[in-house]
Amino acid sequence: MRILFIGDVVGKPGREIVHRAIPGLVRDERLDLVVANAENAAGGSGITPAIYRELVKAGVDAITLGDHVYRRREIYSVLEGETNIVKPANLPPESVGRNWAVVTARNGERVGVFCLLGRLFMKPVDSPWHAADRVLAELPGDVRVRLVDFHAEATSDMQLMGRYLDGRVSAVLGTHTHVPTADAQVLPGGTAYVTDAGMVGPAESIIGNEIDAVLQRFLTGMPTRLPVAERSPTVQFNAVLVDIDEATRRARSICRIDREYEIDGV
Ligand SMILES: [Fe+2]
Ligand SMILES: [Fe+2]
Repeated sequence: MRILFIGDVVGKPGREIVHRAIPGLVRDERLDLVVANAENAAGGSGITPAIYRELVKAGVDAITLGDHVYRRREIYSVLEGETNIVKPANLPPESVGRNWAVVTARNGERVGVFCLLGRLFMKPVDSPWHAADRVLAELPGDVRVRLVDFHAEATSDMQLMGRYLDGRVSAVLGTHTHVPTADAQVLPGGTAYVTDAGMVGPAESIIGNEIDAVLQRFLTGMPTRLPVAERSPTVQFNAVLVDIDEATRRARSICRIDREYEIDGV
């Protein structure tokens, strides 16, 4: 089976390109499932119910999130009510949302999806390693294809999560840095791995934000708004395509799908 995993979708430009790209990819790549990290989908931070519905309509079957999960309070009801969107599983147990989702792919396979937060250069959270163990123990036994989004800053943490879960899940895919890495590979135990999938967002930007605004913040040391770089003439689309052997649930291959789209009417 073939699963597309899309890196952090950033703001309106990112959402527009998700809309434009998915139908063709589903058809041409014969995709069984599309998963996207949407923690930056609403104005660069968080996600709203309307955007959740918009992404699902565009063909996203499951949504993972990250450190910006709760930035928009409106999403709480969706996190509680919908079954195909997950909060990071190593947040406190009292936090709103589900730790894992099970979605049915177009080939009939049920796929477990969850995400975890890294701890280096990020806000304190529970151990992602132990949270991964808890989720794997909780997932229904017949859900044998499992996909993990590890939302972390440190490349070494990402690699370690790949090795920790190698052979126990079908894919460990990184997000959060918004910078795609060139190390997509199948680990010895059969787990597809990439340190960071990248993002779907403005190319002329600093990780999706307006360059001048970021520069001002760092030059002045003062808090400034960081708008999504909506004037960027192009949007980068970064994703990985994971091919999984349905008999063994091991990954056969993982490859990057990286494109650049021109924005119409800008
Ligand atoms: Fe992000
Ligand atoms: Fe993030």
